[in-house]
Amino acid sequence: MILPVVAYGSPVLRKVATDIDKNYEGLPQLIENMWETMYKADGVGLAAPQVGLPIRIFVIDTASMEDKDESLKTFKKVFINAHIVEEDGEPWAFNEGCLSLPGIREDVKRKSKIRIKYVDENFNVLDEVYDGIKARVIQHEYDHIEGVVFTDRLTPLKRRILKSKLSNIAKGKVDIGYKMKFPL
Ligand code: NI
Repeated sequence: MILPVVAYGSPVLRKVATDIDKNYEGLPQLIENMWETMYKADGVGLAAPQVGLPIRIFVIDTASMEDKDESLKTFKKVFINAHIVEEDGEPWAFNEGCLSLPGIREDVKRKSKIRIKYVDENFNVLDEVYDGIKARVIQHEYDHIEGVVFTDRLTPLKRRILKSKLSNIAKGKVDIGYKMKFPL
C-alpha cells in the first residue's frame, strides 16, 4: 500500500524517533509499504517519520544511482534502531533532495565516513562502516529519525533564500507526482 509522504512543516519530522522491538505490530507490512511508497516516488531512501511514524526505521535502495558508482546497484537495505556511533573524515558536498521537501535540491556538506549499529528486518544485529555515497544516503535518512531535515544543514543565508519555498511546501503549494500529506 502506498502511504502519503509527510511534508516539511509536519511535527513528526521534528521528533527524535524511538527504537522498536521485534514484536512491533505490522512491521513486515510497514516495511513493504515503505518500499512501495519510496519506489512510487522515485526516492532512494525513506524514513518512517516521513510516513508519519516517529520510530527508528529507514529503507534505502540506491540502484538508480548506479551511474555514480557500480556498487550502488545492489545497495538495498532496511535499517531498524540505527545509531551512528562514529562519524569522521573530510566533509564533502553532495547534492541532496528529499521526498518531504519536493522541488528543493542543495549541496550539503557532511563527513565522509560513518560507523553505524542497527538491526535488519530479521533483527540481526549489525555494526558496519560506510563511506562515499552510501554513507551520504544513510546520513540523510538517519537525520530523519533524529528530527533533522537536510535544509537544517545549510548556511543561514541559504536557508533564508529557501524560506518561502519551504513555507509553500508546508502549505501544499507544490507540484508533485506522488501522494503527500501537508501540515497546513
Ligand atoms: Ni529525506
